[in-house]
Amino acid sequence: MKSREVHLTAYPKGEPTPEHFKLGEADIPEPAEGEVRVVNKWLSVDPYMRGRMSGIRTYIDPFALGAPMEGGAVGQVESSNHEGFAPGDWVMSMNGWREAYVAPGQGLQKLDTTHIAPEDYLGIAGLTGMTAYVGLKRCIDLQAGESVWISAGAGAVGSAAIQFSKAMGAKVVATAGGQDKVEYCRSIGADSAVDYKSTDNLAKAVKQANEGGVDGYFENVGGTHWTAALEVLKPKGRIAACGMIQRYNDAGAQPLPDNLTNIVAKSLHIQGFIVSDHFDMLESFIGDLGAWMAAGKVTPRNTVKEGIENMPSAFMGLFSGENTGKMLVKL
Ligand SMILES: NC(=O)c1ccc[n+]([C@@H]2O[C@H](COP(=O)([O-])OP(=O)(O)OC[C@H]3O[C@@H](n4cnc5c(N)ncnc54)[C@H](OP(=O)(O)O)[C@@H]3O)[C@@H](O)[C@H]2O)c1
Repeated sequence: MKSREVHLTAYPKGEPTPEHFKLGEADIPEPAEGEVRVVNKWLSVDPYMRGRMSGIRTYIDPFALGAPMEGGAVGQVESSNHEGFAPGDWVMSMNGWREAYVAPGQGLQKLDTTHIAPEDYLGIAGLTGMTAYVGLKRCIDLQAGESVWISAGAGAVGSAAIQFSKAMGAKVVATAGGQDKVEYCRSIGADSAVDYKSTDNLAKAVKQANEGGVDGYFENVGGTHWTAALEVLKPKGRIAACGMIQRYNDAGAQPLPDNLTNIVAKSLHIQGFIVSDHFDMLESFIGDLGAWMAAGKVTPRNTVKEGIENMPSAFMGLFSGENTGKMLVKL
């Protein structure tokens, strides 16, 4: 069986361009003893992948050049030489950016697709949703009746965070780029939403949207949003530092915001986190998510591009805001 796969050709300095990616092809053998052969159906597209394109180790190794890239993927077993898997089984792996692969069965997660669509295991019912959950529950410790600002509110983590915050009884201000996204944030429960692209004073706009400031800030963007959050947060406010996508393509260092003293003056609590360090919350996440979905409080939303050849453009589209909800590629 042949499988097309995307390789990284060079580590981009600044914004990645199509030249940084190349489509290759590999022969995928029959599965040996203990292995399964999987045909991917859905590929995850995530901002953290930009960090793996930098050529240096952060909390995770960089992508190797000239080899298939990696990422979340959901596929179906095509042939199996492992007693725990049968053809047709849905499985999740980190063998993304490719059409098919052979792998030992023990490294794959079998999926129950009775109540959750296979692709949503890459989004709201997977690490994306878990990220929103950890940020709200553990880092912000959000309580019913409190207020929270969710940045990149129309994105994958952001839209999960809006819905989870509402299910937890909080008041939500969302920010997103463009009127359609602002409307979407409202449609999933945000009490108010601000188009950050059409305001020249983000802090003022968010403060106006939620009189008196906010108790919590869910940081997905960084840069201008970080500076504004230090203004908008109430004394003893809490920040979940989840991501800072506005900075991921910076070629060099940027100056620090000049209002950092607010961290001291307001006694702010800032908690950075990587979702994989918080798997002890998995059971509670699955329990709450199941209950919220059953009660109609949480609805998945995906933006879907088709074909392995469109993985690079889907990835680059994250930085121009092409997605609403989770960005996925369907094969
Ligand atoms: N800590 C963790 O374990 C963890 C896990 C998953 C994700 N993350 C982080 O969480 C954040 C959201 O990830 P996601 O997967 O949900 O992606 P996403 O929000 O679905 O997609 C990225 C969104 O970011 C916004 N954006 C892009 N460039 C921007 C810029 N220069 N300024 C302002 N907004 C910009 C765009 O929305 P607009 O159109 O609204 O601008 C875009 O749709 C990212 O920072 C990611 O790195 C962290």
